Amino acid sequence: MSLTEKMSGRHPLSDAEAAYLSPLYRRDISSNYVDGINDPEVRAFLGHDRNLTVEEIQDFVVAHENSEHQILLGFFLNGVHRGNIRLHDCSEASIWLGIALFDKAVWNKGWATKLLKSALKLVWARLSVKTVYAGVDSLNVASSKAFHKAGFFIDKQTASGFVFASHRPSIGCVQ
Ligand SMILES: CC(C)(COP(=O)(O)OP(=O)(O)OC[C@H]1O[C@@H](n2cnc3c(N)ncnc32)[C@H](O)[C@@H]1OP(=O)(O)O)[C@@H](O)C(=O)NCCC(=O)NCCS
Repeated sequence: MSLTEKMSGRHPLSDAEAAYLSPLYRRDISSNYVDGINDPEVRAFLGHDRNLTVEEIQDFVVAHENSEHQILLGFFLNGVHRGNIRLHDCSEASIWLGIALFDKAVWNKGWATKLLKSALKLVWARLSVKTVYAGVDSLNVASSKAFHKAGFFIDKQTASGFVFASHRPSIGCVQ
């Protein structure tokens, strides 16, 4: 079964009904997304050092649509797509998570922290993996803070930064 099927539906952030995560589809791609993800400040730590074309973004989104190993969850706030949580390299034991808020208007308002907490809850509820990992550049202070605030811990230091991790809570202790 694909991760899109396993994580289908809208997943409201607990304290904001107008904000939710939902599997992302090609039809959700807008000029806001294309322009935002190509903003040098947004992409500084995302691993692409040049602008992505609309076709490349479409291919990227479509490659996540029916995969058993990866999924893009769109962050929608007041009806507008503002960012993504990417879950990838899913195995029996673990999955990797990435976050990109391409709408800079939502930065510094605690959304990343809320989204990371929400994504973790979703992973524990819908998947059987034991650990969620995330790679963060050591210069990306905002991201490191958000992962810490969402309950991740530093599992490993690498040449370029940190591997953050969060383990599945014991039964009865899911927050
Ligand atoms: C990194 C990112 C996810 C943070 O999202 P956010 O919604 O602004 O994060 P939050 O508001 O939950 O928390 C950010 C924290 O970092 C702090 N912060 C923000 N910019 C900072 C900076 N340049 N230096 C130090 N701290 C900073 C904020 O004050 C906040 O901390 P606080 O709650 O103690 O005040 C978002 O900026 C983003 O998507 N950036 C582009 C893509 C990216 O870098 N993704 C992460 C890849 S690992």
